[in-house]
Amino acid sequence: MKYFIGNWKMFGVPKSINIIKKINFFHLKDKNRKKYRIIITPPYILLETFSKYFKNKKILIGSQNCYQKDHFSSNTAAISPYMLKSVGAKCTLVGHSDNRSEGDTNQMLKNKVNFALKNNLKVVFCVGENKIEKKNKKTFSVLKKQITKVLEKKFNKDNIIVAYEPIWSIGTGKIPTKNELEETIIYIKKILKQIYKKKNPAVLYGGSVDGNSVKIFKDIKEIDGFLIGGASKSSKKFIDIIKNYYR
Ligand code: 13P
Repeated sequence: MKYFIGNWKMFGVPKSINIIKKINFFHLKDKNRKKYRIIITPPYILLETFSKYFKNKKILIGSQNCYQKDHFSSNTAAISPYMLKSVGAKCTLVGHSDNRSEGDTNQMLKNKVNFALKNNLKVVFCVGENKIEKKNKKTFSVLKKQITKVLEKKFNKDNIIVAYEPIWSIGTGKIPTKNELEETIIYIKKILKQIYKKKNPAVLYGGSVDGNSVKIFKDIKEIDGFLIGGASKSSKKFIDIIKNYYR
């Protein structure tokens, strides 16, 4: 099963649901539809209405983040995994570089993953090196730390997907070479297998994925799907990614 996940970031108002309706319409008629799953992560304010609308449809609605405590607390503007679940979210991103750069620590991320899983949310755990780390050939050591400091053996691995998003590639149009990406995805899978002592964990790629770049990525069989930012805000661009992937 492949995943095409659209992360809307700070984008969307109620009528933006039309974008997802168009994607859903395409998916229903696509001959390849059984091969992949679509998840869209709109902002918090739209989660409830979007989740309700797509409740009995194939597209899943997820959150972009969650707070590192469960149930209710006195943290202003915080949204817990329990609250996300209660409005119909099926999954949540955790550890996006936007949020790491705003102060998310490994301990916070570990709590986020833990409470999200406890509330039966699938977790898309994001990792990735920055430009300087890449230049200094630190990519693997950075990834290893990001993964091993947060993911634990006791976590329900069947509900965790890792998304590799090199920070230098997000929103820049720059993408890793095919070889680089293949090696990195294999490395991440190796680390995950060591933690979970089990076969084939799902690993996605994110960073400037669009209808063009996906043509390069589709030959890398280890990639289990994509986390898509900019191109997920247009139904046409998002659909083009899926079409070109299976072309
Ligand atoms: P872009 O696809 O806009 O590069 O964003 C990637 C991303 O950060 C998705 O979470």
